[in-house]
Amino acid sequence: MADAPDALFGTEAIILPQGGPLYLQLKRWIADAVARGAVKPGDALPSERDLATKVDVSRVTVRKAVQHLVRDGILVQRHGSGTFVAPHQSRVEQSLSQLTSFTEDMARRGMAVRAVWLDRGIYDPSPEETMILGLSPGERVARIARLRLSGDMPLAIERAALSAVTMPDPGAIASSLYAHLDKSGNRPVRAIQRIRAANLGEGDARLLEIPAGAAALHIERIAYLPSGKVVEFTRSVYRGDTYDFVAELRVGK
Ligand code: GLP
Repeated sequence: MADAPDALFGTEAIILPQGGPLYLQLKRWIADAVARGAVKPGDALPSERDLATKVDVSRVTVRKAVQHLVRDGILVQRHGSGTFVAPHQSRVEQSLSQLTSFTEDMARRGMAVRAVWLDRGIYDPSPEETMILGLSPGERVARIARLRLSGDMPLAIERAALSAVTMPDPGAIASSLYAHLDKSGNRPVRAIQRIRAANLGEGDARLLEIPAGAAALHIERIAYLPSGKVVEFTRSVYRGDTYDFVAELRVGK
């Protein structure tokens, strides 16, 4: 990792690009430094105070410039540890016609995955869950919610609901839901998936480490067993800047 303050400031006097408010001049100057590779993805930015002193602007100006760069995805802020140049985004391409799991999708790309558990437990079902999962009266529901990451990069939040008969102990899932279902012969063989655009709310944005209001893909999957019974009802939110869904189209006969 480069010594960011030196890399960013160099030895020359700092000349901000002219035009517009000061914070925008500073914003352009930092964005240029990132674009020409003077500071690299993952490098820490100097503190607000250091930046203000070196560039000779107020801390309010620095803060505003940094906020805009975070909003544009050029910088990222991590609570307690500071501001960094955002990692390079390599987009994940996902086929629309294969019923695969997140773990398998990422393994095919050689990416290591992990999950941060947000929730897993047995609950009384909502009317929607009862209807979609076709639950009998009194049947309970297993809910599992995970933040899915590739390395350190959060990619998606997945909130799944399954009958508690199929999934009596959600705590027993090691990492892959489909691998777990496979073991008990309950891996789905067919699914209907609905995708729509959405803007991220505050909570999900914080988990995905992108600004609230940023573009996201909202995906709903209802997956079936060979018997036709619904086994999984999952709602996911994927970062719009990292995921592409690809469909092969053929001329109808
Ligand atoms: C995909 C689907 C989810 C499914 C998940 C299983 O990401 N959108 O509906 O639950 O894969 O993945 P894994 O087996 O890695 O938990």
